[in-house]
Amino acid sequence: MNDEYGKRYPLGQKMVSINKKSVSETKLQPIAIQQQTKKSWTIEDSEQLYGIEEWGEPYFSINAAGNITVSPQGASRGISLDLYELVESLKKRNIGLPLLIRFSDILADRMERLYACMNRAIARYNYNGRYQGVFPVKCNQNRHLLEDLVSYGKPYQFGLEAGSKPELMIALAILEPNTDSSETLLICNGYKDREYIETALLATRLGHKPIIVIEQISELHTILQVSKELDIEPIIGVRAKLNSKGMGRWGNSTGERAKFGLTIPQILQVVRELETSQMLDSLQLLHFHIGSQISSIAVIKDAIREASQIYVQLAQMGAKMGYLDVGGGLAVDYDGSKSNFPASKNYNMQNYANDIVAQIKDACGRSKVTVPTLISESGRAIASHQSVLIFDVLGANHVSLTTPQPLETEEHLVLSNFWETYQSIKEGNIQETYNDAIQFKEEAQSLFNLGYLTLIERSRAEELYWACLHKIAQIIRNKADIPDELQDLGKIMASTYYINLSVFQSVPDSWAINQLFPIMPIHHLNEQPTARAILADLTCDSDGKIDRFINRKDSKDILELHPLTDQPYYLGMFLVGAYQEIMGNLHNLFGDTNVVQIQMTPKSYQIKYVVKGDTIKDVLGYVQYKAGDLLEIMRCRTETALEENRITLEESQKLLQNYESSLDSYTYLVAN
Ligand SMILES: Cc1ncc(COP(=O)(O)O)c(C=O)c1O
Repeated sequence: MNDEYGKRYPLGQKMVSINKKSVSETKLQPIAIQQQTKKSWTIEDSEQLYGIEEWGEPYFSINAAGNITVSPQGASRGISLDLYELVESLKKRNIGLPLLIRFSDILADRMERLYACMNRAIARYNYNGRYQGVFPVKCNQNRHLLEDLVSYGKPYQFGLEAGSKPELMIALAILEPNTDSSETLLICNGYKDREYIETALLATRLGHKPIIVIEQISELHTILQVSKELDIEPIIGVRAKLNSKGMGRWGNSTGERAKFGLTIPQILQVVRELETSQMLDSLQLLHFHIGSQISSIAVIKDAIREASQIYVQLAQMGAKMGYLDVGGGLAVDYDGSKSNFPASKNYNMQNYANDIVAQIKDACGRSKVTVPTLISESGRAIASHQSVLIFDVLGANHVSLTTPQPLETEEHLVLSNFWETYQSIKEGNIQETYNDAIQFKEEAQSLFNLGYLTLIERSRAEELYWACLHKIAQIIRNKADIPDELQDLGKIMASTYYINLSVFQSVPDSWAINQLFPIMPIHHLNEQPTARAILADLTCDSDGKIDRFINRKDSKDILELHPLTDQPYYLGMFLVGAYQEIMGNLHNLFGDTNVVQIQMTPKSYQIKYVVKGDTIKDVLGYVQYKAGDLLEIMRCRTETALEENRITLEESQKLLQNYESSLDSYTYLVAN
C-alpha cells in the first residue's frame, strides 16, 4: 500500500458537495439555530447534555481537556485513555477513519461483572447450585473477540452458544476441550441437520460438553438415531415456547406462534419418546429465550416463574434435569434513562441475577427438586460496551439564513404579506405567525408553478420563510412548554452533518429497527455545541441517516454538535459491540471498517490486533469482479481513446494510475 489508503476519493464527483473545501464554504453560513452562547461551557455541561455518566459508566467519561476518556477496566482500577489522542495516534499509524475500536479489557470486565452478580445472588439466597454462562456466538463472531472471550472466561468456565452450523464450527475450534478441572458448556441451539448433530456428538470424544437443545420435534428423532449409531449418550435440552410475553422489538420471540422452541404438548412428546427409548436420563436442560433487550424486569420475572414450573415438573416426571438455561435478554441501557423504554432497562445486572436465583430456588424448594446449574446466554450485555465506532464529519449543510432586506415598492402581495409576518413575530404570536409563514410559503410555491412569481421572487419567499422560522425558533428555544405544532421546528431547522460512514454497514440496527445508540463528539467537550444537526451517511440512500438520538426522556430528533472548522471533527458511537458488525451490509459497496483491538498494559496500552477494513478491490470481489480484469478493460479503453486522439498519453496514464490505486484504497473517504 503506497500511502494510507491511496490518496483518491472513490466517489469522484460526489465529493464536491462534501469535501474539505465545502466544509470551509459551509462554515461561512450561519448555524441553523443559534444557541445563546453560555459564557463558559464546562465539561459538566457536556456530561449533562450527552448523558455520558448514565450510559457510559464506568467506562466512559470526559477529561479536563474536553476529550472522552476510556477506562477499560472500570473507573476505579487500571489506567484511562484519552480517546481523541488514541484516535490521533492510530491515524499516525495509518489506521484511518471510520474505525471500530474494541477494548478487550471492557469485555473481560463485563464477564467478570455478570459472574460476580450471579455469585452474589447465589450466596444471598443460599442457592445450592452454580452459575455457568455461555456467550451466544451470533452476537459477535469475530475471531479475535471470541478468542479473548474464551480466554477471559476460563476462570468462570464460560462456554459458548452456537445458533447455527457455522457457529458450531467456530465454537468447536475456539472453545478448549474440558479437562478434569474444567467443564465449559457448548450449548447447541438453532435448527439442526444430521451433520450438525453428528458433529456435536462426536465432539464429546474430544472433551467438549455439547448440550443439544431441541428446537423442532424432528430433531429428536435424528438425535436418537445418530446417538445410537455412534454409541454416544447425548445430553439433550428442550427449548420451551413460553407464554410469558416478551416486550418491544423482540417480543414475538415468545408465545405459541414464536418461531423457535417447543410447545408444552411437544415437550411432553419428547419426554414420552425418550422414556420409550429408555433415554429420559438424557433430558437434562430446559432452555427459553424471550427475546433480546428486555427492558422490563417484570417480563423477566414472569418468564422465569413459568420456566421454573416447567423445569420442576420435568424433573418430577423422571427427566434427569440439571440445567436451566434462561437465554439472553439482559438489556443494555443505551440511553441511560434506567426506564423500561426500549433503549433502556428498569433494572440492573444484580436485580436480574437476584430474580433468577430467587425464583428458581423458590420453585425447586416448594417441590423438593434439586436446584439446577444456571446458564444464561447474555450477548448484548457482555459485548456491547467494548466497541466504539469513531468517524469523522466531512461537511455540513445548513438551512440558508440571510437577514431579509426591507421591501421594495411594488412587490408581489404574497411577499409583502410575508415581510409583514416576519416583522411582526413576537412571543405572543408565534403560533399564528408560524402558521402564516407556512401558508405564504405554500402560496408562493403555487404562484411560481403557475408562472405568477419569478425565480427571484420565489427565492425571496424562501428567504423570508427561513427567516421567520429562525426568529420563532429563537423565541421558543428555552421554553419548556412548546405548542404541539412547533415541536418539529428544531428538526426542520437542523443542519445536516455528513459523516464518513455507512449506517447500513456499521449500525444496521439504527436503520432497520430504529435502535438508538449514544453518539457524541469525542473532543471539544469543554466548548458549547451550538449547532443542531442530524447525520447523513455516505450512501446514496435517503434511509442512510441518523435522525433520532438518545435523550433522558424518550428520544430527540437533533444532536447538539460543534460548528465545523477546518480541523477534523470526530464523533463516537458507543455500545455498538453486539450484532452490528455481522449484520452490516455492503450497500453502495461500503465495506468493513478498520478495526483495532486495544489491550491495557500496566503502564499504557498495546494494539493487540489491527484488521484493515475492506479495500475497493475486496468489495468488488464480493460481487464477482476481478481487479485485474477491470484494469485490463480500462487499459484497452484508454488505448482506443489514445488511438482516436480523445485523450492525451499523460491523461490516460493519470486515469489508469487513479483507477489502479483506487482499487487498493479504503471504501470510505480519506481527508485531503
Ligand atoms: C437463543 C438466543 N440466546 C441468546 C441470545 C442473546 O440475546 P441477548 O443479546 O439479548 O443477550 C439470543 C439473541 O437473540 C438468542 O436468540
